[in-house]
Amino acid sequence: MEKGKVDVLLGLQWGDEGKGKVVDVLTPAYDAVARFQGGPNAGHTLEFEGQKYVLRSIPSGIFQGGKTNIIGNGVVLAPDLFMNEARELEKSGHPLKQRLKISKKAHLIMPTHRLLDHANEAAKGKNKVGTTGKGIGPTYTDKISRNGLRVGDILENFDCKYAACKARHMNMLKALGWNDFSSLEESERIWMEGVEYMKEFEFVDSEHEINHLIVQQKSILCEGAQGTMLDVDFGSYPFVTSSNTVSAGACTGLGIAPNRISNVLGIMKAYCTRVGAGPFPTELFDETGNKLRNLGHEYGAVTGRERRCGWLDLVQLKYSVMINGVTSLIMMKSDVLDGFDIVKACIAYRLPNGDTTDHLPYSIDNVEPIYKEFPGWLTDMTDFTNEEQFPQAFANYVEFIEQFLGVRIKIISFGPDRQQTIIRK
Ligand code: GDP
Ligand code: IMO
Ligand code: MG
Repeated sequence: MEKGKVDVLLGLQWGDEGKGKVVDVLTPAYDAVARFQGGPNAGHTLEFEGQKYVLRSIPSGIFQGGKTNIIGNGVVLAPDLFMNEARELEKSGHPLKQRLKISKKAHLIMPTHRLLDHANEAAKGKNKVGTTGKGIGPTYTDKISRNGLRVGDILENFDCKYAACKARHMNMLKALGWNDFSSLEESERIWMEGVEYMKEFEFVDSEHEINHLIVQQKSILCEGAQGTMLDVDFGSYPFVTSSNTVSAGACTGLGIAPNRISNVLGIMKAYCTRVGAGPFPTELFDETGNKLRNLGHEYGAVTGRERRCGWLDLVQLKYSVMINGVTSLIMMKSDVLDGFDIVKACIAYRLPNGDTTDHLPYSIDNVEPIYKEFPGWLTDMTDFTNEEQFPQAFANYVEFIEQFLGVRIKIISFGPDRQQTIIRK
């Protein structure tokens, strides 16, 4: 952490790496936390003092007093879901309105965006992406096609702008053959209530806000959502989300110049998971996969869907380290591997033509993982407090990953609680 600079923290795999927990652990060292992309498709879980919270659109620095939290211009926000999330936090005693600012340039997810999300998925049939159904794709599509509705629009002539967007969406829905509007009126009522609630928050020009903090020598942590393999440019397209989840997304999603970025903190699970459709080279369909799912409680924080599970994929991670310029790694959920006799990590892919490579190819549809096997450590590490306690077999696993990726693993997490974290020397 460097004064007058920003650090970027992001997921290196397919999301759900444990970003929420780490941001919460690291926040005491920062003056501000800012979300730069995504929206309520995210589910960031934090556990402390016996309580569990799942954040969707609100930055994970919200639980610490005296910090500024910013929802940046790159985020897409659903007023109704934001209201539910914020009210829950307020009920549990967290004074949100003093701590949170919202960019006027963030785009609004409308109820009809959610219908369009469902209609697009239905139209794709068996090729559907398996989205979270939160209207993410259609909202970013409207942004890029210059038809979007922004937080700043709430302040002026909003009803008219809303009606024009809705009329456009209704035509699109008709063209897609969508005819289920049974819940639309009620959704719109709650949504408009959410818009009124949002007005109690400070809407800001977040790019000015952030650059002002930088000039004042404050430190800022930019919190990513999703993960690098869900990035719209570099992920497993088209099975991706609709935003830039990589470190460059922090620049466009907050108005930060690239030379202001200091550290890029890359979060990885000690194994791999994925929710929704799309290629996943190390996916396990056997008992080992089920064991990872059960021990890791791998069920989606947003949709409750089963997460697909597999061994760590170092080919994929090496690519993520390159794209993001990762300066430190943070390894999560290594406790989930505590009970395995053998732990595996993919170190190369065999391509359909028989060649092998450790470069992530254009298509990962039909690659076969080549594994290195590690003897398991068979030690419960959930109460460990320092790295001197590491069993040798675990230390070997960590060292191999560091050497393969060329980046040091600075933090290791052994459980969902804030306390179950070791920051290495
Ligand atoms: P995010 O979207 O990246 O913030 O991650 P999620 O919150 O969707 O998923 C991570 C899940 O793992 C949550 O249920 C966390 O409480 C939990 N978790 C985080 N770190 C650890 C860890 O080190 N060990 C275990 N067992 N669970 C963890
Ligand atoms: P966090 O921030 C895991 C996945 C969806 C789907 C694809 C596109 O908690 O890590 P979308 O609704 O974004 O259009 O869905 O992306 N997806 C996530 N998977 N974690 C997430 O967020 C995700 N956000 C979206 O399952 O495959
Ligand atoms: Mg999540």
